[in-house]
Amino acid sequence: VISFVGAGPGAPDLLTLRGCDRLGTADIVVWASSLVPAEVLAHTAADALVHDSASMTLEDVLGVYAAHPDAAIVRLHSGDPSVYGAIQEQIDWCMANGRPFEVVPGVSSLGAAAAALGRELTLPGVSQSVVITRLAGRTAASMPPDQSVSDYAPHGATLAVFLSAARPAELRDELLGPGSGYGPDTPAAVVVRASWPDEVVVTTTVGRLADDLAATGATTTVLVLVGPALADLPAARSHLYSPTFAHRFRRRSTPGTTTGRPAIRSGTEPAFRSGTEPAFRSGTEPA
Ligand SMILES: C[S@@+](CC[C@H](N)C(=O)[O-])C[C@H]1O[C@@H](n2cnc3c(N)ncnc32)[C@H](O)[C@@H]1O
Repeated sequence: VISFVGAGPGAPDLLTLRGCDRLGTADIVVWASSLVPAEVLAHTAADALVHDSASMTLEDVLGVYAAHPDAAIVRLHSGDPSVYGAIQEQIDWCMANGRPFEVVPGVSSLGAAAAALGRELTLPGVSQSVVITRLAGRTAASMPPDQSVSDYAPHGATLAVFLSAARPAELRDELLGPGSGYGPDTPAAVVVRASWPDEVVVTTTVGRLADDLAATGATTTVLVLVGPALADLPAARSHLYSPTFAHRFRRRSTPGTTTGRPAIRSGTEPAFRSGTEPAFRSGTEPA
């Protein structure tokens, strides 16, 4: 089996248990030293054959797969493989060549950057959408029309900008284009090597973003987050834990009480068996 494993954002303990298991039992590991720190390879068996894909082409990598039809192969991809992971072309090869494969999800740098900031990216009444995007950059031909940063800016949602740190002025200009939902005072953050030992976190504004991003000196392994959800303000509380909001697992509280259902055993969370709990408001999803 060829396992496309999400290596997480960098910290070796942000690999999933399944990813760790696959690494520990792999005969062959292909990893990109440019994106995944060597420490993640500590989970690899001592006798595994390790290839660094940093200098390899897709054809080189597929050549390794083809040469070892019966091996357990792990292809490590930074963060989560589904985000700018370039796994689809490898999956297509597996399908065309009858090679079994699996994808093991990983912790994306999106989550790691939000964690470094100590922020939630989706706040009630502020932002209920997170747009994962990038500047077109050197791979402009890959960018479909109407999907540039300036196309998303009018929404004013939380924006996670990957792969764009080398173009700070271009990023600022796209964020502040005509009709943008952001202004020079909109909060922004630069997270360099989230979860790595030398992680850098800079909180800034869209107006100062270009200068502050350039000042980090980092052009790779940088995630830029933008949007009003990053503001250092108290958030409106969510419906999900509001005593006045009923949902499948909790009744609405009556005034003067703190919870809609009695505690079943002090200190424990009541365990509901799916299908046995009456739906208090059938068909609604708590927000
Ligand atoms: C080829 S993409 C891979 C993204 C990856 N699949 C993920 O889920 O994070 C590489 C880009 O992801 C972002 N990135 C990956 N790891 C990061 C980290 N630890 N800290 C900040 N940004 C990171 C950067 O924007 C970098 O240029």
